[in-house]
Amino acid sequence: MIPSVLPTYNRAPLTFVKGEGSWLIAEDGRRYLDLAAGIAVNALGHAHPALVQTLTEQAGRVWHVSNLYQIPQQQALADALVEKTFADTVFVTNSGTEAAELAIKMARKFWYEQGAPERVEIITFQGAFHGRSSGAIAAAGSEKMTKGFGPLLPGFVHLPFGDLEAVKAALNDRTAAIMVEPIQGEGGIRALDDAFLRGLRDLCDTTGTLLILDEVQCGMGRTGRLFAHEWAGITPDIMMVAKGIGGGFPLGAVLATERAAGGMVAGSHGSTYGGNPLACAVGTKVMEIIADDAFLAEVRRKGALFRQRLEGLVAAHPEVFEEVRGTGLILGLKCRVTNTDVVQAGYGAEVLTVPAADNVIRLLPALTISDEEIAEAVARLDRAASAVEAAA
Ligand SMILES: Cc1ncc(COP(=O)(O)O)c(C=O)c1O
Repeated sequence: MIPSVLPTYNRAPLTFVKGEGSWLIAEDGRRYLDLAAGIAVNALGHAHPALVQTLTEQAGRVWHVSNLYQIPQQQALADALVEKTFADTVFVTNSGTEAAELAIKMARKFWYEQGAPERVEIITFQGAFHGRSSGAIAAAGSEKMTKGFGPLLPGFVHLPFGDLEAVKAALNDRTAAIMVEPIQGEGGIRALDDAFLRGLRDLCDTTGTLLILDEVQCGMGRTGRLFAHEWAGITPDIMMVAKGIGGGFPLGAVLATERAAGGMVAGSHGSTYGGNPLACAVGTKVMEIIADDAFLAEVRRKGALFRQRLEGLVAAHPEVFEEVRGTGLILGLKCRVTNTDVVQAGYGAEVLTVPAADNVIRLLPALTISDEEIAEAVARLDRAASAVEAAA
């Protein structure tokens, strides 16, 4: 008999009843060091006092009114994002997938309004992940995500990861946009180098093509800058944000330049829940905390410390791990053994990690993780690795 919850997930047999900063406490009282953070969502850890206060205060006032009316909390969030980024305008969504949908629509509508309705193609890259809607799976294009869900939304061109020559060859007078994650998260913490991102920006500038960056996983301070593209010194035309921006409350956004958003007039897009007062009050508070130079400098410092310790872990367990990947607090360990065995052994050592493609385990802790917790995380990963070795 089918379970009452649609069985689309492979869940670990763990139930958490409480979260405190970087820790999750299970029903049986065991304390797990959380390097999953709800898959890069709990950017400020669990039950951050400022977020609890903001959420409960807003909950006592008004939760939802719909976009029929003015929403000052949405305005405040959009203003904060515009102030701190390349963007001139923001549409607030509930998730990363919805942000991907709008990014695709916005790019196509742009060219339609420019009198070039044939420019509909969007270039994407192998290993990408943009969500689970029909549009987002077509954008990623992998067989794993798309098989059985056809007919797929047409108009995506899938290119090898990080291949600028392939992009040059693929650009033509039907190209609307290039959509890419600066660091692939689900794809295995695979970072594009700065030169590639700058190359994409140049190609977009010469052809008018829109550059869409998906910073759903790598954005919101995770790399030690507010957004990952800042490292390459470029800006996109459209950007998708979600996960960390809500600190655990469902929230996403599409950020865009005035030019790129030109086609999105009244009535062209909408959402019942998107931009509701509860989510936006929390998001504005998250922005206030993360978009702060001192906070981001700490992420960079802790990321370097964590990475250094992980290099030692890889050296100590060369049969389990191959290499460390990533930057800031979006880190990965490429495994020599099956990655899910390491994740599983982590449960035994009371440390939570996330599997990714390319046989990688992801470490996406709260950006507020302390130096002591980083040391503890490496000690627990060391125990997990030893357990995998012992079982081999
Ligand atoms: C890069 C990227 N884009 C989009 C998404 C989809 O976001 P959501 O799961 O919030 O719909 C994800 C989720 O993992 C992601 O990592």
